[in-house]
Amino acid sequence: MADNNRDVVILKHGEMSAELELQHGTVGPQGIDITPLFQKTGLFTYDPGFVSTASCRSAISYIDGDQGILRYRGYPIEQLAERSTFLEVAYLLLNGELPTQAQLEGFVSDVTHHTMLNQSLLKFYNGFHHNAHPMAVMVGVVGSLSAFYHDSLYIHNPEHRALSGLRMIAKMPTIAAAAYKHNIGEPVMYPQNHLSYAANFLHMMFATPCEPYERSPLAEEALDLLLILHADHEQNASTSTVRMAGSSGANPFACVAAGIAALWGPAHGGANEAVLDMLEEIGDVRHIDKYIAKAKGKDDPFRLMGFGHRIYKNYDPRAKIIRKMCHEVLHELASDDDPLFELALRLEEIASRDEYFLERKLYPNVDFYSGIIYRALGIPRNMFTVLFAIARTVGWVAHWMEMMADPKHRISRPRQVYHGADRRDYVPITERS
Ligand code: ACO
Repeated sequence: MADNNRDVVILKHGEMSAELELQHGTVGPQGIDITPLFQKTGLFTYDPGFVSTASCRSAISYIDGDQGILRYRGYPIEQLAERSTFLEVAYLLLNGELPTQAQLEGFVSDVTHHTMLNQSLLKFYNGFHHNAHPMAVMVGVVGSLSAFYHDSLYIHNPEHRALSGLRMIAKMPTIAAAAYKHNIGEPVMYPQNHLSYAANFLHMMFATPCEPYERSPLAEEALDLLLILHADHEQNASTSTVRMAGSSGANPFACVAAGIAALWGPAHGGANEAVLDMLEEIGDVRHIDKYIAKAKGKDDPFRLMGFGHRIYKNYDPRAKIIRKMCHEVLHELASDDDPLFELALRLEEIASRDEYFLERKLYPNVDFYSGIIYRALGIPRNMFTVLFAIARTVGWVAHWMEMMADPKHRISRPRQVYHGADRRDYVPITERS
């Protein structure tokens, strides 16, 4: 019960009651500060999946899932998608404000001059099987950066934190493209300092020592857009993982490696890869009804990949932007009548009229169309989630830095409601039935 005259919520249980203060945000729901709850009442809160739990205070991104709103540092995602660039957005997320021209040039130059990998790190790739999933390589190689950059590992020094963050943002495309080259048995391509962040990644993916990559301005623009849209999304599973790992004082490279592992799952970043698998499995518009029925089946684990979101109970604003870019890219870089795109549009149309999806507010999410764009750019499917990781590194670093700069941050240590066996005595093996 809320006491509207004072900023407290009063929790009553039998004879016991506790006053809990409210945490005010700028916009969006307020939080009940339950920190003293256990001390005052001996009770825990129970919220598996963190459906109603704010795990921290943050000023980086804001989502209103009912209205379909996403803002980075207050700026609507639509404006950033139309008018900004990925590295400008990265600066904004990391520093809280849009850069001046000089600040942006300085930041772009800093990122550009940290893109190379230590040659010894490149030797690690030979230890991976040639057909290792690039996400597996990412988890390993990013984690092992901590073995190389001892000069930026003192996490209580803000300059060390900034340098580690910069190194990760700069090196992530190089690490990712090298994983791809190892996969296909081609030599690793070094970064080129005259190229933009997106163009450099395309160069490292598709150029060979024998032939340069033919630059397509639209491919560069589309990739930059996708990077902007994936850069941050408040306390999602991977970002929360990075914060959780970082809360113990672990180094930032290890924390981001943990974030990559969490992102890999098909319920999170792995969905973009799973969407294309699903579209191929459906194969033809005539089979859509069968798959919609499967997705609705209570006992069938099949779900429409790229549909639904924990927070968005409206159209994901990022999906709207991507859908538009999808048309442009397919028109210019692939055949307009890509059967998988036709299938995706039809699936969306059918699901958007279906009671099951309407009742549960299941709309296409960011991953529903991103895979189709990546495919049109020639990026192989097993690299889709890697691209998500490249973009989200900015968000992970921004959140880790925000947490580390907060003098009140404590180790994240959730509690549990135990429901195992009560105390019992050890039984010798000869006496067990
Ligand atoms: N297809 C069919 N049914 C679905 C789907 C789907 N894609 N998503 C949710 N539902 C149903 C659930 O079965 C459940 O139905 P019920 O109430 O009858 O039991 C109801 O909708 C609510 O679903 P939950 O799983 O409780 O929702 P939650 O918030 O825990 O999960 C999630 C969100 C994981 C994204 C889920 O919608 C899903 O698995 N989607 C497919 C995977 C996907 O696209 N993931 C990418 C997310 S975006 C991102 O990470 C960038």
